[in-house]
Amino acid sequence: MKKRWFIISFALFAVSVILAVVSIIYSKRKTENVPEFVFLYADNQSENYPTTLGDIQFAELVYKKTGGRIKIDVKCGAELGSEAEVINQMKFGGIAFARVSCTQLAERIPEMNVLNLPYLYDDSEHMWRVLEGEIGEDFLDKTGDYDLVGLSWYDAGARNFYSTEKPITCVEDIAGMNIRVQESAMMADMVSALGANPVEVVFSDVYSALEKGTVDGAENNWPSYVSMNHNKLAKYYTEDEHMRVPEMQVCSEVIWNMLDESDKKIIKECAKESADYERRVWNDRERKSKENAVNDGTEVIELTQEEKKKFRDAMSGVYEKYCGEYMDTIKKIIEY
Ligand code: GCU
Repeated sequence: MKKRWFIISFALFAVSVILAVVSIIYSKRKTENVPEFVFLYADNQSENYPTTLGDIQFAELVYKKTGGRIKIDVKCGAELGSEAEVINQMKFGGIAFARVSCTQLAERIPEMNVLNLPYLYDDSEHMWRVLEGEIGEDFLDKTGDYDLVGLSWYDAGARNFYSTEKPITCVEDIAGMNIRVQESAMMADMVSALGANPVEVVFSDVYSALEKGTVDGAENNWPSYVSMNHNKLAKYYTEDEHMRVPEMQVCSEVIWNMLDESDKKIIKECAKESADYERRVWNDRERKSKENAVNDGTEVIELTQEEKKKFRDAMSGVYEKYCGEYMDTIKKIIEY
């Protein structure tokens, strides 16, 4: 009788231990599946564009490295608004992360214009030396002036003019044209300096502005020109390479301050890792976009060094006007 009781008690004990273990595992799994933070990430480019692919990789890395505690929901195609609207919302933490063009940061942090100056870098390698060195680190920190935290740099290649009716083969050709520019005072001045009329249009509306004829042309890198279908309407693409505008992954400072030090470290590491990935995708996409556009009827106009110099000289006034106080940094960049 005693033995039987012993067996029954032992069996009950074993079952309760097993139930306890199962419920601990189950509740742990359950909490692991529920993120502590869910953040929004904004990009105005399309789903398959190199920057968006970089953003998605960033989100996946953060999710993995935080064991699912931080989930980042990437919204592309300007779903959360234009870049200007997104940056404004980030100031108050409405949007946590974004990939934005430096011209839009420069509208709020004027010193940022230094990095966007026309013909500042000799080529892509020169720009990357600058961005990856101490100057680049300093500029990431300058976003603090607008309550943002700069995380890493993305590539956006060189910007070039393109037109609908006639090719731009020299400075004289662009004079009198209505050219779409980003919401950027410096860009508008650069276009005016060429004798053209700058028309500010948000990125997502450029196609319809070209279609309606509100503008005779615009300017952008090869991947944007093709992914936004501008190549269907503006068949002349002039490789003047007037500027290289870097892009940045940023975090809202309001959100940043909610995170603990180890999560901040993970986020910075993932931002850098995704930036390397974006650059690799970028190089390939730039080449393919040009190939596709040419196969689809785009006429590429290459400029001689002499003609490029005329574009450069015409635009050079913006150095003093927008960045006169930062001439030391500019000199350092040029010699870097
Ligand atoms: C680039 C950049 C966009 C920007 C666009 C523009 O394509 O990646 O973020 O909005 O230029 O010309 O507005």
